[in-house]
Amino acid sequence: MKDNYNRDITYLRISVTDRCNLRCTYCMPEEGIDLIPHNDLLSFEDIVEFTRTAVSMGINKVRLTGGEPLVRKGIVDLVRMLWNIEGIKDLSLTTNAVLLKEFAKPLKNAGLQRINISLDSLDKERFAQITRRDKLTEVLEGIEEAIRVGFKQIKLNCVIEKSKNEPDAVAVSKYAEEKGLQVRFIRTMNLEKGEFWIVDGGEGGNCSICNRIRLSSCGKVLPCLFSDLGYSIREFGNEKAILLALENKPKSGTVSSNNQFYTVGG
Ligand code: 5AD
Ligand code: SF4
Repeated sequence: MKDNYNRDITYLRISVTDRCNLRCTYCMPEEGIDLIPHNDLLSFEDIVEFTRTAVSMGINKVRLTGGEPLVRKGIVDLVRMLWNIEGIKDLSLTTNAVLLKEFAKPLKNAGLQRINISLDSLDKERFAQITRRDKLTEVLEGIEEAIRVGFKQIKLNCVIEKSKNEPDAVAVSKYAEEKGLQVRFIRTMNLEKGEFWIVDGGEGGNCSICNRIRLSSCGKVLPCLFSDLGYSIREFGNEKAILLALENKPKSGTVSSNNQFYTVGG
């Protein structure tokens, strides 16, 4: 399906929860967030039905995000249900890897092909500063397990302040090389201030080739991360909400005061 600027929209990112077991300083305040009430979260049936419609309209690539997708109860079942949809060529997930040691194998078995793992530092104290949780050991064990079970691709997402020559980023690069993983450096963005950058080694942030739409955890189709536009699937139904997002997808992003990385998954 084409938007008004002739971009072919083939990629759907689904945020399955706004909850997270870390508190990265660039993403969430220390005290956490006003959580979306459980009743407002989309059910797995809602998500699968939506995705089925999206795939029938031209989506072939799906990524699960959060918050932290692995804290959503039954996530493995959701992966299995999505993988059963005819027409999905690529199914992936973005995680902070805190729970990945437990989930890597079942996720792989359920059909998950690729995984992106957030890793900003390899220094225990720096990691705890950035994420406000002392979980580096769990994360590294999670990465090891993901490598062991053999995903088609594992990428590391490393958030940097400005440059990939910062000490934390250099250490992550070296680690990625040792482990044979790809790494993408993401400059810290600010949705409210409209500060966003093209992701180094990725496709994010490059408006002219953007092929994405998003489904938020409470059921809005979002045409652009850096915009407040959103169309509720409860209000419009799946197909109409997708068409509205398509018709209104901005040529390029500006600012967003509603969206947060933890509700729309970056
Ligand atoms: N700027 C850039 N990336 C962010 N993420 C979350 N918040 C921000 C932000 N403010 C990204 C991180 C993380 C992914 C889940 O979301 O890259 O790996
Ligand atoms: Fe959680 Fe990811 Fe936000 Fe960090 S960036 S607090 S891991 S959702």
